[in-house]
Amino acid sequence: MTARIEHLVTSGQFSLDGGTWDVENNVWIVGDDHEAIVIDAAHDADAILEAVGDRRLKAIVCTHAHNDHIDAAPELADRTGATIWLHPDDLPLWKQTYPDRDPDAHLVDGQVIEAAGADLTVIHTPGHAPGAVCLYDPALGAVFTGDTLFQGGPGATGRSFSHFPTIIDSIRDRLLALPPDTKVLTGHGESTTIGAEAPHLEEWIARGH
Ligand SMILES: [Fe+2]
Repeated sequence: MTARIEHLVTSGQFSLDGGTWDVENNVWIVGDDHEAIVIDAAHDADAILEAVGDRRLKAIVCTHAHNDHIDAAPELADRTGATIWLHPDDLPLWKQTYPDRDPDAHLVDGQVIEAAGADLTVIHTPGHAPGAVCLYDPALGAVFTGDTLFQGGPGATGRSFSHFPTIIDSIRDRLLALPPDTKVLTGHGESTTIGAEAPHLEEWIARGH
């Protein structure tokens, strides 16, 4: 295992259902000195390119297609030759931002994305968005959860294409089944662990978000 995890925070806006909000996003880079993949090319292709440096960028994996997670993906792909990966259930959201350009490849549950010795297994976790995915590597001891699981609870399910019972099923059945010491590296805000979040599942169900 030579891969390491790097991280930057970029600023921009999230728009859906006619509203727009200022947001900060976590951009995760998994790689070594030679190659890397980016998880969620948010807001700022220049900043992400600077963090990637002279490494070969193999792939841009989108945890879901809310515009704040994909708004730098095509530019980053065009400037590096990287492949944009998205679960096809999020194509309707993707097309709200990019009606004339599709992602390059479709993510499938159980697929493994390889980069620099890391093996990131795709876990389809619908609920926040229908094509939301998490990426888990037991060797890294980390799961990248996008907007499915945060420090303090599930991602938002109040807007279009979201469904609270579905995100609860995804979190309970797919994420809380991971080892408790697994780092949870999120799409926004602070990191957490599976073990820190798991005891709160019933609270989240009771409060409904
Ligand atoms: Fe989102």
